[in-house]
Amino acid sequence: MKKLLAAVAATMIVASASSFAADKAAPAAKAPANYWDGWTKVYSLDMFPECGVNVLGAGGDDILQVTVDTYCGVKPGGYVAYINPKMMDIYKKKGNKYPDGQIGVLVFKKIGAAFTTDIKDGKPIMDVKAIADGKSIASKEKGHPLNPETCFNCHETIQKGVCKSHGYVCGDVVFRTK
Ligand code: HEC
Repeated sequence: MKKLLAAVAATMIVASASSFAADKAAPAAKAPANYWDGWTKVYSLDMFPECGVNVLGAGGDDILQVTVDTYCGVKPGGYVAYINPKMMDIYKKKGNKYPDGQIGVLVFKKIGAAFTTDIKDGKPIMDVKAIADGKSIASKEKGHPLNPETCFNCHETIQKGVCKSHGYVCGDVVFRTK
């Protein structure tokens, strides 16, 4: 009996020691790898529609349709949009001007890429970054969907500049129509 108790106690010590080790290891494993970790999730799309799919019937709007038509060839998979919590007040008020800084990001896990919007001197700086190391993987090819110029053109001009009038943030459909 004594032996059994000792064995149980030993197991408990081992168990608590290993859970302690796990506790200690967890924060390191979860250490922020990207600057947007911990930002506020604002909307998401589980599956990026295939080319040729009409999203208007599924609650999408014209802007989303153009976006789908632009990116379906890249097969980017679903996405999650995050906004910098420091900018959330402006976002919620649908403000038209953000201060300089990192504003939003659209994370495409499947292709390991993130679309990023920063503001500098009131103008958007758009980029495509690798989730793995944060380095830019934007294209320099004219008209390429991953060329920042393509991003800018849409966020600047689409639907009479609806994104531009929201500080270059495109929001989701609800955001754009209200
Ligand atoms: C044809 C139009 C179009 C193009 C091109 C485009 N976007 Fe967007 N972008 C949108 C739309 C529409 C949304 C909102 C998506 C939704 O409603 O689900 C959006 C959302 C975003 C967001 C999330 C924050 C926000 O504005 O709501 C970021 C960041 C972003 N785009 C950056 C980029 C970058 C970087 C590129 C180029 C690599 C790019 N976009 C190209 C239309 C476009």
